[in-house]
Amino acid sequence: PRHFLDIKDLTGDEIRAILNMASRVKAKQDGRRFPLHPDSPLSGRALGLMMARPSTRTRVSFEVGMKQLGGNVSVLSPSDMQLGRGESIADTARVLSRFLDVIVLRTGEDESLRELARWSSVPVINGLTPISHPIQILADVMTFEEHRGPIEGRTIAWIGDGNNVATSLIEASALLGFHLRLATPDEFDPSEEAIVWARSNGANIITTRDPHEAAEGADAVITDTWVSMGDDDAEERQRAFRPYQITEELMENAASDALFMHCLPAHVGEEVTEGVFESDASVVFDEAENRLHSQKGLLLWCFGFDEIF
Ligand code: CP
Repeated sequence: PRHFLDIKDLTGDEIRAILNMASRVKAKQDGRRFPLHPDSPLSGRALGLMMARPSTRTRVSFEVGMKQLGGNVSVLSPSDMQLGRGESIADTARVLSRFLDVIVLRTGEDESLRELARWSSVPVINGLTPISHPIQILADVMTFEEHRGPIEGRTIAWIGDGNNVATSLIEASALLGFHLRLATPDEFDPSEEAIVWARSNGANIITTRDPHEAAEGADAVITDTWVSMGDDDAEERQRAFRPYQITEELMENAASDALFMHCLPAHVGEEVTEGVFESDASVVFDEAENRLHSQKGLLLWCFGFDEIF
């Protein structure tokens, strides 16, 4: 099956095929309505959305996107399944593969995703793990290119936590050919493994402790929340990240038409000032909308489509 576990599992051409299909399905959209044809490409197909962690964008965009493509959706809460009472992931995967045609899993344990994919005979999509968030990067690249044209050769600054979204961005920089500068505090470094992999595949990546150095002349400045629900070291994190807030002054270091991007949810006043978040440079709600379109492209790819319409 065509699993989508990490950006680095695909080729640049495959990522491009997904993004091209995403743009085509978006162009078909008529305002809020997506025209449903009798030959809807995913008619008769069923998506299982297994969300072990809270989600707004991932859950709703997959649910709406699958239905717009003609398919059905089952939203599954792992704690309400026999998984929560000890049934193995291997058996769960083999059972769900008999009912479903594609499975999205958001989990707090990366190994659970790998195990599900190992045993599933239908495509498995990473809906976010502590290690990576590849579906977010599809939407981010799509959004950048809608506003500023091809991302290849452009410079992207990631400022803040070297987290799961940063890992997927690092991998994408190798496959899509953009320059990446990451500014992170001590103790919150981006994945060394991802950087080594990306550099060995031609990526141009700079790491620094200085947010101004990362932002200098960048075409987009990206950050993410500093503290997630349940972080028991919230105060320590706030202290460490304070110099990494995206401010108007920092954005002035970037290119004059630089975009501000954030995968949301945002904590305005923490990782970004209200002035930047609400500025014309901010495309955060376009990013959120593009979760829908890019994931429709991804679903089509998982079902074997390499082009559509
Ligand atoms: N950006 C993102 O993944 O949002 P949710 O956590 O709301 O799905």
